[in-house]
Amino acid sequence: MEVKNICCIGAGYVGGPTMAVIAEKCTNIKITVVDLNEARIAAWNDEDVNNIPIYEPRLNEIVGNRRNKNLFFSTNVDKAIDEADLIFISVNTPTKTYGTGKGMAADLKHIELCARQIAKVAKTDKIIVEKSTLPVRTAEALKSILDNTGNGAKFQILSNPEFLAEGTAVEDLLSPDRVLIGGDSSQEGQKAIEALVNVYANWVPRERILTTNVWSSELSKLVANAFLAQRVSSINAISELCEKTEANVNEVAKAIGMDSRIGPKFLKASVGFGGSCFQKDILNLVYISKAFGLNEVADYWEQVIIMNDHQKRRFSKNIVQTLYNTVSGKKITFLGWAFKKDTNDTRESAAIYVADDLINEQAYIALYDPKVSQKQVLTDLDYLDTRKSDENEKHITSYNNPYEACKNAHAIAILTEWDEFKEYDWEKIYDSMLKPAFVFDGRNILNGEVLKNIGFVYQSIGS
Ligand code: UDX
Ligand code: ADP
Repeated sequence: MEVKNICCIGAGYVGGPTMAVIAEKCTNIKITVVDLNEARIAAWNDEDVNNIPIYEPRLNEIVGNRRNKNLFFSTNVDKAIDEADLIFISVNTPTKTYGTGKGMAADLKHIELCARQIAKVAKTDKIIVEKSTLPVRTAEALKSILDNTGNGAKFQILSNPEFLAEGTAVEDLLSPDRVLIGGDSSQEGQKAIEALVNVYANWVPRERILTTNVWSSELSKLVANAFLAQRVSSINAISELCEKTEANVNEVAKAIGMDSRIGPKFLKASVGFGGSCFQKDILNLVYISKAFGLNEVADYWEQVIIMNDHQKRRFSKNIVQTLYNTVSGKKITFLGWAFKKDTNDTRESAAIYVADDLINEQAYIALYDPKVSQKQVLTDLDYLDTRKSDENEKHITSYNNPYEACKNAHAIAILTEWDEFKEYDWEKIYDSMLKPAFVFDGRNILNGEVLKNIGFVYQSIGS
């Protein structure tokens, strides 16, 4: 079977970039990305490709190339489902905020809604591909809904988890380490796998396309993220020990990373990991382990999250302690709000939690992030539900200019590792601040020696 028409449900950080790259590499396939959110679809269709809703290096260029040729963005979900041979489900699966599994299990309500809609609309056989990160055995639930509520059309369900990292999404999609496709062992299952393999084979070498059973594929995604997050929590745990001894975490990371068994990546100590995947996926892993009665397994992985929460809290506590045990009424400038550089995504960003702690201590936060809007910042803080929205608004102000944001500040905290922060005129910033002028570098990106020579009190993570 040859795939000619693809529908992707969900025009977010996963669906948008993934479909743009498939469209770029498979010009003979028509791709329609649909979403219920009208404003989001309108932004994807904005005449000026610089206004698309997601910031990723090179994404606007690719969308500009393919849009309205073989790449379409629409709110007409039913029509796109009806026309497609293959449907990617890329809707969000946040951690549940209510009921059983609250704070841990993935909320699958959006996935279920998609399955019911597909079942209702589909008149012909289709391949359904899980793209969102899902807890193991979600495919079973999908299949049950599709088979029991449909109009007789047959569905094959594949798991094809996305391993792209935000900020490098286009690069990761163009040359992935591997593409993972899980499907069932029946003849139809194998045919569906082959159809999806052929889509990727347009640009990914065959030996990098790995096929497995559905459960291995679903679990691999959770495990990959858990292992990556574990490395960050491990090095962050060591950063605290370095601060108490004369060791320097950057030197330790370099020394251990040169051991080829360990490797150099994902060993950057930081104020704590964020993003839509790490915490959610580990919580999923913990939840399913507990459900199987594997308490030690659950505790083992949960510790990765506990360490990360500790790292964020430790950073804000140190700011308060260093500023003579009070930040009440003081202006503290945040450089960066996104959970990492080169993305406008802020989900689970450490900045949110550090800001929340400092606002509890009555600080006033001035903020500059090159890609995040004031509206998003307030939404993130309000989501924590620590205090009333107008209180948050009183305590945090976004600036369009970093120098304005730093003026008259008691301290600066670096929360995201945006490259441009390294290029600033730090003398000029120093001159405009209250003295002593403090810099808390939560990403270890600035040159501490240079800053100290200017006159700053400079503190980084893990030294
Ligand atoms: C992650 C996985 O990398 C990706 O494969 C998966 O598909 C989705 O989840 P992402 O969340 O986009 O991707 O970003 P990632 O680069 O993994 O960073 C996650 C967090 O860890 C960020 O907050 C980042 O700043 C932090 N981090 C990463 C560190 O603090 N130190 C490091 O050495 C690496
Ligand atoms: P991710 O990082 O997983 O891509 P996002 O939140 O960026 O997550 O994107 C998910 C998108 O899926 C959102 O734009 C949301 O509006 C959309 N969505 C959720 N449920 C449905 C649904 N039933 N039908 C269509 N779109 C949906």
